[in-house]
Amino acid sequence: MTGPRPRVAIVGAGPAGAFAASSLRRSHGDVEIDLFERLPTPWGLLRGGVAPDHQDIKRLADTFERQALRRGCRFLGNVEVGVDISHAELMRHYSAVIYATGAQTDKSLGIAGEDLPGSWAATEFVAWYNGHPDYRDLQFDLSAKRVVVIGNGNVAADVIRMLTLSPRELERTDVADHALAALRESAVEEVIVLGRRGPAQAAFTSAELRELGHLDGVDLHVRADELELDPVSRDWLADQGTFTARTNVELLTEFAARPPREDAPRRIELRFLRSPVQIRGNGRVESVDIGRNQIVRADDGSLRARAVDEPVETITCGLVLRSVGYRAVPLPDVPFDERSFVLPNERGRVHTPDGAPLNGVYAVGWIKRGPTGILGTNKRDAEETVSCLAEDLATGALVPPPEPDREQIDALLAERVADIVTVDGWRAIDRLERERGRDERRPRVKLASRDELLSAAAATAPSAPAAVA
Ligand SMILES: Cc1cc2nc3c(=O)[nH]c(=O)nc-3n(C[C@H](O)[C@H](O)[C@H](O)COP(=O)(O)OP(=O)(O)OC[C@H]3O[C@@H](n4cnc5c(N)ncnc54)[C@H](O)[C@@H]3O)c2cc1C
Ligand SMILES: NC(=O)c1ccc[n+]([C@@H]2O[C@H](COP(=O)([O-])OP(=O)(O)OC[C@H]3O[C@@H](n4cnc5c(N)ncnc54)[C@H](OP(=O)(O)O)[C@@H]3O)[C@@H](O)[C@H]2O)c1
Repeated sequence: MTGPRPRVAIVGAGPAGAFAASSLRRSHGDVEIDLFERLPTPWGLLRGGVAPDHQDIKRLADTFERQALRRGCRFLGNVEVGVDISHAELMRHYSAVIYATGAQTDKSLGIAGEDLPGSWAATEFVAWYNGHPDYRDLQFDLSAKRVVVIGNGNVAADVIRMLTLSPRELERTDVADHALAALRESAVEEVIVLGRRGPAQAAFTSAELRELGHLDGVDLHVRADELELDPVSRDWLADQGTFTARTNVELLTEFAARPPREDAPRRIELRFLRSPVQIRGNGRVESVDIGRNQIVRADDGSLRARAVDEPVETITCGLVLRSVGYRAVPLPDVPFDERSFVLPNERGRVHTPDGAPLNGVYAVGWIKRGPTGILGTNKRDAEETVSCLAEDLATGALVPPPEPDREQIDALLAERVADIVTVDGWRAIDRLERERGRDERRPRVKLASRDELLSAAAATAPSAPAAVA
């Protein structure tokens, strides 16, 4: 490509967008990169998903800061693509647009009672305790002794810990203040976790499962009869079982053999081969009916849960957290695969549902491959997308946009969004949160409303994006 420097918009400043920015910056020093983000803060689920008691992982933000923001990528926070600026407008200003918008909602169970008050998606609980400004006003009733968590993946592990850590442990974290206040008053003593498949298919990774078995003041219980592997799972574990599955079965066996800790103030019970059939309650959650499953091998070789025809068991509880996965939402005027909930793409190059290429449009992270994978998965994924973009730049497949100057997009944004948060604005937020944290010996005390975030950003930062980087 000849002419002005290519300009790339990355939509979504979560881990995938940040990895894409740093990979692009590394391979193409001359490309101008703008990171659009609907929140006033960057780093997506690294800030708003990763559990407050896992602070070590949050240090990845320093790498993003160093490899993207300090290397001249502009942060344009509080700008929602599809609302404040359209896809077509982005295409008029940038040679390429990389969508990195993640998975913004939850997958539903499709059972009766799912929407009763007291039945929440784990996505909501997670966003609430992590200080996501759109969720701070939710009210979780933690007055009941028993909670049922549906699903046994790593998000479930996070919410189980948040429900069972002591206030003393929570106070050392960056859990949002409103959540800390509610969790301090929590009456929850028992968390029942429903895995629809067996112990060999639990979706926890082993480190997260091990951690659940070693929480202070928490008795973890596994029923011996539910731990016994059925013949299909036994054969699968012996022939094809992953390292994680074998380790998980070993850990669960070890947990099941431990004598119960009668003195522990809180208890976790991991149930297996159990699915919720209905959530019941008169105006709010009072119980969950659960059915037993067996493992069957499907035609494609995968191991599935199939309901066994026998009477249901009822578990009384006051709160249900459905942790059965995240789900992406479509963006206006961008193709969307309604079956897989991703942008249809080939190695990150977005195409229409019938396969026609969309020049200059790319995807990365959860919006590219679905809502699975740890932070590091997004690095490899970003490198794949960026290498396709680099190839398209090299072959001249990316045409210069009709309005290629930075000043043109800045003028449009200034017209549309009053409070754009620049990199300076984000640093002002970051500084203030860390300062507030220092006083309380916490990593940070989060500002959890848009107003607080925007006024912290405005206090020390110019608002015009042109002043950034
Ligand atoms: C609760 C939870 C805990 C996790 N904990 C860990 C962990 O401890 N360790 C680990 O390795 N992995 C963890 N993960 C996985 C990891 O967080 C994901 O792999 C990663 O965040 C996916 O990155 P992403 O950028 O695709 O999506 P996201 O992190 O969701 O980022 C997407 C970004 O796009 C923005 N956005 C969305 N729509 C728009 C729009 N229209 N305009 C502008 N911006 C937009 C969003 O606000 C968000 O900032 C966790 C995941 C969850 C859900
Ligand atoms: N500490 C960490 O590293 C960390 C922390 C949080 C999240 N993450 C990552 O983020 C990604 C998302 O995590 P996640 O926990 O949301 O997803 P996940 O790992 O896919 O787990 C989803 C769970 O929901 C169950 N489920 C799905 N549909 C169901 C239904 N209809 N009925 C009952 N159960 C159902 C799944 O069971 P089946 O297995 O039977 O489908 C599984 O147990 C994962 O890759 C995870 O590793 C990592």
